[in-house]
Amino acid sequence: PLRRSTNVVWQNTDVSREIRAEQKGQKPLTLWFTGLSGSGKSTLANEVEKRLLAMGKHTMLLDGDNIRHGLNKNLGFKELDRVENIRRIAEVAKLMNDAGLITITSFISPYEKDRENAREIIGEEFIEIFVSTPLEECEKRDVKGLYKKARIGEIPNFTGISSPYEKPVSPHIEIDTSQYTIEEATDTLINQIIKYLE
Ligand code: PPS
Repeated sequence: PLRRSTNVVWQNTDVSREIRAEQKGQKPLTLWFTGLSGSGKSTLANEVEKRLLAMGKHTMLLDGDNIRHGLNKNLGFKELDRVENIRRIAEVAKLMNDAGLITITSFISPYEKDRENAREIIGEEFIEIFVSTPLEECEKRDVKGLYKKARIGEIPNFTGISSPYEKPVSPHIEIDTSQYTIEEATDTLINQIIKYLE
């Protein structure tokens, strides 16, 4: 178990998060993508980052598979590990917002209470984007062959098969990628994201 820090006092610094954001000339945001494995989260997060970059925005993309190679390499897929995974990501996203960046996160983040916790950590910068591609479509794509393995019991606790995915109740933005090409989906997302950049 992790030990809590004691005798730690918050230090105020002279350069505030507002000043850092002003220096960058943008409003910090966290675009929090959530959805099943294979729903298109990472693809869309990647496309959205490219569009924002082209608009002159300073961004940082945190992606599930990649963060699990580094910062969160000691975490698996049991419930408590996923809780800790999401908590750390939320804290990192907040730090990046403090630095003035637009953070884009792409994690399954299957539990409502963890996304709620992330929203509390990040604050009003938190924008929830639900990639609502249905399970049947994700399983049909099975880009990484993981659903097949999960179905025959080779991967335990697999989201949508042997571990739950709790759908967001009122996401800021929702997109079902089975209905659109990647370009159409990206256009749709950017049109909605723009509203939050002002
Ligand atoms: S979570 O639930 O938010 O903590 O998951 P995340 O950090 O996004 O990691 C999901 C990626 O890990 C691979 N993977 C699994 N996913 C779900 N369940 C199990 N058991 C599992 N084991 C490995 C999988 O490639 C996920 O990637 P994406 O990009 O979502 O397909």
